[in-house]
Amino acid sequence: MRYRRLGRTDLEVSELSYGAARGATGTPKQFIATVHACIDAGINLVDTATGYDDGDSERVLGEALQGHDDVIVETKYRPYDGWAPEAAYTGSPQALIASAEESLRRLRRDRLDIFLGHGIRTLESYERFMSDGCYDAMVKLREQGKVCFIGLSELSEGDGTHEILQRAVPSGAFDVVMLTVNFLLQTAIDSVLPLCKRHDVGTVVMMPLNQASPQSGLVSVPAALECVRRHVAQGNLPDAPPYTDPHLFDFLQPHSIPAAGLRFVLAQRVSTCCVGMRTPERLAENLQVVDPPYLDAARQTRLRELFGSVRSQVR
Ligand SMILES: NC(=O)c1ccc[n+]([C@@H]2O[C@H](COP(=O)([O-])OP(=O)(O)OC[C@H]3O[C@@H](n4cnc5c(N)ncnc54)[C@H](OP(=O)(O)O)[C@@H]3O)[C@@H](O)[C@H]2O)c1
Repeated sequence: MRYRRLGRTDLEVSELSYGAARGATGTPKQFIATVHACIDAGINLVDTATGYDDGDSERVLGEALQGHDDVIVETKYRPYDGWAPEAAYTGSPQALIASAEESLRRLRRDRLDIFLGHGIRTLESYERFMSDGCYDAMVKLREQGKVCFIGLSELSEGDGTHEILQRAVPSGAFDVVMLTVNFLLQTAIDSVLPLCKRHDVGTVVMMPLNQASPQSGLVSVPAALECVRRHVAQGNLPDAPPYTDPHLFDFLQPHSIPAAGLRFVLAQRVSTCCVGMRTPERLAENLQVVDPPYLDAARQTRLRELFGSVRSQVR
């Protein structure tokens, strides 16, 4: 495993990190086995949230991480009444502090390594978060030592061009951001990543495989072609070759689609690529495919030419 610096936190984080959004409720033993396999492989950052599996993600992680205090845990407070881009803002400093306390209890820790505002989705709600006491409460938690570093995650389904992070990163208010980068949504590469470098903000990439389902996303050729078809249907890509060609992705061989997807992300200037994996076998697959130089210049250029114009996320 290779490690990269997480911006101004000065933490050295594994370049692959573990996204713990799914699996804790239905298959807790498998979830714990996957966490332990990650640790054995050198992964030292795990991303969770109060909202994942209704708190079970944090709760089962707390069990899995007993005796592993060195693993960096990132968790989040979601100041909205739902997951949808149009969900109403419900943030308050009291709720944020209560959420952090609950996270500490469920994770069985006396400090949260990284604490993020979760899925910030409109500029208006970002401004409210910054001015209604929520941001001040995060800073206070950091001063009290209950939280080490603070940041935001975005909701790329609602903000494909990262307007919020383009405002948040230069403000200097945050140590870390969680953002979407994958070869079907590349907008952050030229907009947010250079800002993060300039302001020394750590970057945890989410959805490197475009939050794939078996039907659509960067997990197989049919699923990737289906995602391209959905982009064409929405007018984001032309209804013409090569986008309509079933051999569109042949140039990526010998890499599989998920391997090329992870390699594309790791080839960018990001701190860590956080991938959702529900089994140790899935982890083993991904560990095999992420050696430097990750993805050669010709394939990267072709992916930039093909999908660099996409401005919104489609799953
Ligand atoms: N706004 C936010 O803050 C936000 C939003 C989304 C995600 N996140 C975080 O980012 C993490 C990663 O994002 P994500 O899980 O949504 O999406 P993702 O990592 O792009 O995709 C995860 C899916 O890819 C599959 N997969 C992984 N490796 C594979 C391989 N080699 N071959 C085939 N399939 C493979 C997984 O399958 P299996 O499950 O079957 O292993 C899973 O269904 C999340 O777990 C979460 O921690 C944060």
